[in-house]
Amino acid sequence: MSGFPEFGYRNHELFVESVSLQQIADEFGTPCFVYSRAALTKTYQEFDAAFAKRDHLICYAVKANSNIAILNLFAQLGSGFDIVSGGELQRVIKAGGDPRKIVFSGVGKNAHEMRMALHAGILCFNVESEAELVTLNRVAKELGKIAPVSLRVNPDVDAKTHPYISTGLKENKFGVPASEAERIYQSAHLYPSIRFTGLDCHIGSQLTELEPFMQASNKMLNLLDTLQSQGLEIEHLDLGGGLGIRYTNETPPSIKDYVAALCASTDQVKQRLLIEPGRSLVGNSGILLMRVEYLKHTSARNFAIVDAAMNDLMRPALYDAYHDIIPVNNNNGDMKSYQVVGPVCETGDFLGHDRKLGLTDGDLLAVMSAGAYGMSMSSNYNTRPRAIEVMVDGDTVHVIRQRETIDQLIAGEQILS
Ligand code: LLP
Repeated sequence: MSGFPEFGYRNHELFVESVSLQQIADEFGTPCFVYSRAALTKTYQEFDAAFAKRDHLICYAVKANSNIAILNLFAQLGSGFDIVSGGELQRVIKAGGDPRKIVFSGVGKNAHEMRMALHAGILCFNVESEAELVTLNRVAKELGKIAPVSLRVNPDVDAKTHPYISTGLKENKFGVPASEAERIYQSAHLYPSIRFTGLDCHIGSQLTELEPFMQASNKMLNLLDTLQSQGLEIEHLDLGGGLGIRYTNETPPSIKDYVAALCASTDQVKQRLLIEPGRSLVGNSGILLMRVEYLKHTSARNFAIVDAAMNDLMRPALYDAYHDIIPVNNNNGDMKSYQVVGPVCETGDFLGHDRKLGLTDGDLLAVMSAGAYGMSMSSNYNTRPRAIEVMVDGDTVHVIRQRETIDQLIAGEQILS
């Protein structure tokens, strides 16, 4: 379970806040992403409260879940945003986010995206290479603007996470080494349309220990010290995202302890602190609701074939990630070990292996912790329309994205004339 009281059983039936998932499935069909507004709100507020009187800005990493209803909720709570594309910029603006609270990360921003962000007046570009700096300087000059920049430093720290989501090692494509960063900051005069305003790093995702964050923070502080002694005025320090969540038996630091550790490790500097949390803000506030289509028992295994698949939630197939899968009605008998698989034509299309469940055809299941990197990484593989998304608020269910239609999927395609 997510650990949130917003997701729990009442008389053997799984609820999100005051709404039963059975009711949601009846009304909106499956597969369906269901989010709890209360859980999202509480999580944001937990981050914010943990910063107490420290000058800070929480920049929600939009990639974790980019639905504009979620962005709007965070914007209303005062959040800033970490974006990685022009598309994410447009979403934040559409959702009512404040451009002056946006940081723009990513190794391959193109000139068009830079123009969009300069027009919008974002807080900062997190620049990841000298080549990118040259382009940004040119684009800003063309527009007669000064681009605010942090260099993303690669602190060469082992985040001790899945290799696909580790970003702060020197062999990763992200950021520039600290020594190089120092040289680039010193060459500010070469970039008259750039203003260096910050210092940035992000070492990876789903970190379950504080130690790598502390190592990165210390390296950043050393660099900050050097830059300041050379007369550079750095206004903010961005320590990225990466705090892990509990999917099964992980024991990540609490939000409170994580923020307290960041604040303590930087308490001797006056700069505003930025962080870019994604998963930890939304991961445990959402589930994927799905239905068992067929049970199939072979001599080797029992399969529960469900109506959600790797195109809806890619994490198990891509990272062998574990998500709890629990019944919506938990008064079933006859428990068996199931391979929970989708209809997509790939052996890698699974949501869970060896899950002990008591199932009959038509049963509803909830994949837990699906609020982050679920819908945002979904695809249309096998021409499967993307799932509907709903947000529960107390006893009310709001549709925040309609289920896709096949017509929408093929609308842009055409036969040779
Ligand atoms: N900032 C930057 C520059 C990032 O690249 C990321 C995530 C974040 C912040 C947010 O990190 P978080 O707080 O969510 O850990 N698809 C993978 C996760 C990829 C993370 C990519 N970068 C997954 O499903 O586990």
